[in-house]
Amino acid sequence: MRPMIAGNWKMNGTLAALPAFVAGLGRTGTDVDLLICPPFPLIGPMIAALRGTAIAVGAQDCAVETAGAHTGDVSAVLLAEIGASHVILGHSERRADHGETSSLVRDKARTAIAAGLIPIICVGETLDEREAGEAETVVRAQLAGSVPDHFAGLIAYEPVWAIGTGKTPTEADVAAMHATIRAALGRQLGDAGTTMRILYGGSVKPSNAAALLAVPEVGGALIGGASLQADDFSAIAAAAPR
Ligand code: PGA
Repeated sequence: MRPMIAGNWKMNGTLAALPAFVAGLGRTGTDVDLLICPPFPLIGPMIAALRGTAIAVGAQDCAVETAGAHTGDVSAVLLAEIGASHVILGHSERRADHGETSSLVRDKARTAIAAGLIPIICVGETLDEREAGEAETVVRAQLAGSVPDHFAGLIAYEPVWAIGTGKTPTEADVAAMHATIRAALGRQLGDAGTTMRILYGGSVKPSNAAALLAVPEVGGALIGGASLQADDFSAIAAAAPR
């Protein structure tokens, strides 16, 4: 299975800086799947700037409805129409800052799939939950609530305490959680769950990417801060096992 190296720009990046970013990517992306998810207004320009490369462009969220009176929301149908391929759903920042529940994430995943987008559903425990020994229970519950039947997409395991902090779980902890997620996906989705890519996210950088990407059941990475610099993003892609 080809690894997926995905960048989540969050509320970062500018139109002015796009050409330099794209130029800096060089030949990245010949034997891994590469994806960049910039803020909504940069999706179209990023698609245009990356035309002719194998690098896909996605969104960081979409509305649960497909159209209508929903001020400020962006529909999966429109994202697909302008050429976005993927959408990140249920990121912990949206769960925490916007009160997104697992059932909303599941409904958004259905909407996204119907529009032709590939969802990346994020799950992950807080530090309190990990210290209380509840990490696997929390993640299993998030999967059960967020992943719709017949789901065709990716999962990203992102421990909340590792996001933007420079802290990462041990390789053994990543392996244990990815095995838990794999087993849960198998139970929920049957055969499809046994091959679905499970990304790791949370403080992935060039210096730790090779070790994290080599962990069993880690099918790629979802990268925040380090995806903003083309050379860091390319270095992480180069560290992915082939
Ligand atoms: P980080 O963010 O790489 O900056 O820790 C990861 C994410 O939130 O997707």
